[in-house]
Amino acid sequence: MVYITRKEHFNSAHRLFRPEYSDEENLRVFGKCSNPLWHGHNYVLMVTVKGEPDPETGFVMDLKVLSRLIDDNVLQKLDHKNINLEVDFMMGKLASTENLAIGIWDALEPKVKLQGSCLHSIRLEETENNIVEYFGNK
Ligand code: NI
Repeated sequence: MVYITRKEHFNSAHRLFRPEYSDEENLRVFGKCSNPLWHGHNYVLMVTVKGEPDPETGFVMDLKVLSRLIDDNVLQKLDHKNINLEVDFMMGKLASTENLAIGIWDALEPKVKLQGSCLHSIRLEETENNIVEYFGNK
């Protein structure tokens, strides 16, 4: 099995909060990410697909195709957007890196499968120190 990864970047705004909490409780639980007037992160996204190289092309999956799928289904929805307010697959969810990684998986996995390929993982770096990986619901 060979694993190939496409690395992308996007910039998004968010706020981590629970509406039933006071601003003080939100600050205690969510830290600076609870700022009521939003803030942004420069996210680094790594999408990994697994499989055997095609005998004809030598590719597990054409990375140009994977790049287009990520652009159409993830980056155009997230880049320079407010995750809490504008991103269809994050509506009603806490805009944590964990939930965002799951949302990106759910947005991409069916599209990758349609190409005959197998999504292995979503790795999402909110900062250089805070990193989430998701391998699907298994
Ligand atoms: Ni934040």
